[in-house]
Amino acid sequence: MERSFLMVKPDGVARGLVGEVISRVERRGLKIVAMKMLRIDRELAERHYGEHRDKPFFQGLISYITSGPVVAMVVEGKEAVKVLRAMIGATNPMEAQPGTIRGDFALDVGRNVVHASDSQESAEREISLFFDESEIVSYSSAGETWVYEE
Ligand code: RTP
Ligand code: MG
Repeated sequence: MERSFLMVKPDGVARGLVGEVISRVERRGLKIVAMKMLRIDRELAERHYGEHRDKPFFQGLISYITSGPVVAMVVEGKEAVKVLRAMIGATNPMEAQPGTIRGDFALDVGRNVVHASDSQESAEREISLFFDESEIVSYSSAGETWVYEE
């Protein structure tokens, strides 16, 4: 099973959308195997979004992501990276389809509620930035036998 990193950003937490995001992940049949609330400091923010260091929106992005608590998760399931990217929708909520998290709950690219890893390599890097391996649990969920054919 593949793992991805999913995070409810400060606007999502402040707007009370944590339960909504978790609920969508659970209903899809994906499994949350690690979760915590934290306030991201500047150093972690700059490492997490390091690929955007030279972009014009970088400072705004760092201010945004450090502005309040986030809820970080490791999510496991079949093609978890691809599935979560589809569930969160386009980066700019104006282009995100209804039915996606950003398409249902956001309007501004700088306040787009959630983050999800964009590749398996990013997922591994981001999971290790936010979680110790000891914080990731292994368990079987009751519905699992009905989510997967085998
Ligand atoms: P994320 O990493 O947060 O999941 O978002 P993403 O992959 O969909 O988009 P990415 O290109 O990685 O951009 C990271 C975050 O930077 C902010 N952004 N602002 N003003 C702008 O043009 C702009 N472009 C990106 C967004 O908050 C985006 O989620
Ligand atoms: Mg990204």
